[in-house]
Amino acid sequence: MAGRAGGLTPLATSGTTILANQTSSNILPPPERHAVLRVMPQPSDANIHGDVFGGWIMAQVDIAGSIPATRRAAGRVATVAVNSFTFKQPVFVGDLLSFYAEIIKVGTTSITISVEVYAERQRLEVEVVKVTEAILTYVATDDKRQRRPLPPV
Ligand SMILES: CC(C)(COP(=O)(O)OP(=O)(O)OC[C@H]1O[C@@H](n2cnc3c(N)ncnc32)[C@H](O)[C@@H]1OP(=O)(O)O)[C@@H](O)C(=O)NCCC(=O)NCCS
Repeated sequence: MAGRAGGLTPLATSGTTILANQTSSNILPPPERHAVLRVMPQPSDANIHGDVFGGWIMAQVDIAGSIPATRRAAGRVATVAVNSFTFKQPVFVGDLLSFYAEIIKVGTTSITISVEVYAERQRLEVEVVKVTEAILTYVATDDKRQRRPLPPV
């Protein structure tokens, strides 16, 4: 697990020194970004080695992505596609996960969302790593679960 030892560089962010891996894909999200969801995996979410199940993370990513999608759709949405999903680093019981979700494309009925997940290892901000990134597409649906056009902004 590369994030726990070595290769860490202090990043100056708003007066706080935070360590992150040197690769650009692992740098901290800008402090002004607002996490749509923060959650801490529990022992029941992990295997016997303490590594969190990928399926658990996928479920949280789906929930996080649905938040801006539901707001944009002004109502219910259904996940129609997981376009891409990458587990960049493992997640451990006790990590504090922050989910950042933003709309990257809007169609007639669909909304495509980018989700990035960062982990504060063992609930401490001294080590923050990007653990997951994904792109998902949601479709606005009506009360009969049929697609419906997105409302104007
Ligand atoms: C969501 C659902 C109502 C859409 O109905 P549909 O008849 O398939 O609708 P369409 O084929 O016209 O596609 C609707 C939109 O989704 C987009 N879309 C469909 N499949 C897609 C895919 N694989 N990737 C990206 N976008 C996709 C279409 O481009 C279209 O976008 P637009 O209207 O913005 O141009 C239907 O597919 C459904 O009920 N799926 C199951 C949803 C669900 O249960 N999700 C939870 C999984 S357990």
